[in-house]
Amino acid sequence: MLVVGLNGSPKRNGNTAFLLKEVKKNIEELGGEFEIIDVQSVVLDCKHPFCMECKSPCDQNCLKGTKLEEAYNKITKADAIIVGSPVYFGTLSAQLKCFFDKSRYIRNEKKWIGKIGAVATVGASKYGGQELTASTIQNMLMVHGFNIINDGYEGFDSGHFGVNAQEPANEDRFAIKRAKVLAYRIKQEIDKKR
Ligand SMILES: Cc1cc2nc3c(=O)[nH]c(=O)nc-3n(C[C@H](O)[C@H](O)[C@H](O)COP(=O)(O)O)c2cc1C
Repeated sequence: MLVVGLNGSPKRNGNTAFLLKEVKKNIEELGGEFEIIDVQSVVLDCKHPFCMECKSPCDQNCLKGTKLEEAYNKITKADAIIVGSPVYFGTLSAQLKCFFDKSRYIRNEKKWIGKIGAVATVGASKYGGQELTASTIQNMLMVHGFNIINDGYEGFDSGHFGVNAQEPANEDRFAIKRAKVLAYRIKQEIDKKR
């Protein structure tokens, strides 16, 4: 079981990273592997961090041999991904948006269809847009054909919209609990596919 966590924050050890590490801890306890990708650094490894739509259909030239290409390959190998984002102006970080825009060729190749996708968000405010951010990311994953899962687990409860926290995330006991439930749910979904 390989799970990839995308850290969409520019901070490697911030609140988003904390949430991903909580899921990681639980996935590892369940016998899985969890790898965190620093989205900003892989996107910045390309000459143009944005999709410039230089060719249509995309020939992937802009990312050949980059860390971004490696990150996409890692997702292709993974059983599930968790997209983690800080809330920026009520939505996902620009880093994550670039990451997904540049993955358009993978969509054409249909490589991520049916893969499990979940979401973790964190904002400074109590109602700062965490659920809107989660929903936007879920829609983005849907465009790739991911099977979206929430933070519900039969042995616990039905959950809601994923792991959504208020900073400081390490003091958000509810979000920490949801990160644990999400890990169980991910394992269950992966087991169902085997
Ligand atoms: C550009 C920017 C925009 C932000 N917009 C929001 C917002 O709309 N709602 C909110 O609750 N927090 C907002 N924040 C605060 C971050 O979401 C919050 O500090 C979060 O914990 C950062 O996560 P990180 O530590 O993983 O980077 C914003 C922060 C920045 C830098």
